[in-house]
Amino acid sequence: MKVTVIGAGAVGATCADNIARAGVCTELVLLDIKEGLAEGKAQDMQQTAALLGFDTIITGSTNDYSKTANSEVVVITSGIPRKPGMTREELIGTNAGIVKTVCENVLSFSPNTIIIVISNPMDTMTYLALKSTGLPKNRIIGMGGTLDSSRFKYQLSQHLGCSASDLSAIVIGGHGDTTMIPLISKATWNSVPVTSLLSEDQQKQIVADTMVGGATLTKLIGTSAWYAPGAAGSALVKSILRDEKKLFTCCVALDGEYGQKDICLGVPVTIGKNGWEKILPLELSASEKEAFEKSAAAVRSMNEVLG
Ligand code: APR
Repeated sequence: MKVTVIGAGAVGATCADNIARAGVCTELVLLDIKEGLAEGKAQDMQQTAALLGFDTIITGSTNDYSKTANSEVVVITSGIPRKPGMTREELIGTNAGIVKTVCENVLSFSPNTIIIVISNPMDTMTYLALKSTGLPKNRIIGMGGTLDSSRFKYQLSQHLGCSASDLSAIVIGGHGDTTMIPLISKATWNSVPVTSLLSEDQQKQIVADTMVGGATLTKLIGTSAWYAPGAAGSALVKSILRDEKKLFTCCVALDGEYGQKDICLGVPVTIGKNGWEKILPLELSASEKEAFEKSAAAVRSMNEVLG
């Protein structure tokens, strides 16, 4: 089993580190455009093998895609962050160019791979990957909702004083802080609805804090986060390679599901050896449906910038 992570920055390296520690693949390739960066991080990571007890062979590559050949899964984290004075359109334009070229290079050496997109704006980059590669839709997975759902569980666990892994809670819709929809009405602590344990004010606070989860960290750290994004990417890789068929929220191509077509948005899906395998339906309330439609409209307007 072989996995490639494109982009050896904060998120890519963390994702690769988690994949190596999970021991789910025999070969792991880290690729970056910056000379020596991927090779250095790959070697550093490989030097943890004796301490952590994994046998994955980790290789670094400066933009040499032949090293990525025959990867079962490729995770794309390459891109640039938004710089001061940069418009949203400029950011989309730059990252779209990077993601499109990366996809072409990846597929020329791994035509059967499954692609996981992490680069932002993630919903639009996932849509671009789908449209530009023409791959079957099940092989393009946007990671966003997996991360946002984990952040939602974090916020819930803080208020409930419980283990985050005891919670079942998901965030659907877009990955942006105004487009995501934390479904508090459906969240449970094991099977106990959290709405029966939290006041209205607490519920509002948890939803609001989840929605600005990424921005809060950017403010604190001075750049965007990497531990949870990297772990989210790695959880998806593991579910594919082990054919776990775990249920995650991922950004996938909708073809009538949830009332949407020709868009990639976050919905609950099973993740297994074929990529995303099944979209699960959810009974949404009128206000949740309205929020989903608004989210779709906002993502669609970003997708139009691609044109
Ligand atoms: N090919 C390969 N690597 C590239 C390319 C390219 N064409 N263009 C940029 N990169 C690399 C950069 O050299 C850098 O090492 O992508 C890496 C990005 O790393 P960081 O700047 O550290 O960004 P990071 O925090 O990892 O975020 C990556 O994930 O969560 C999202 O919003 C985030 O879009 C961003 C992405």
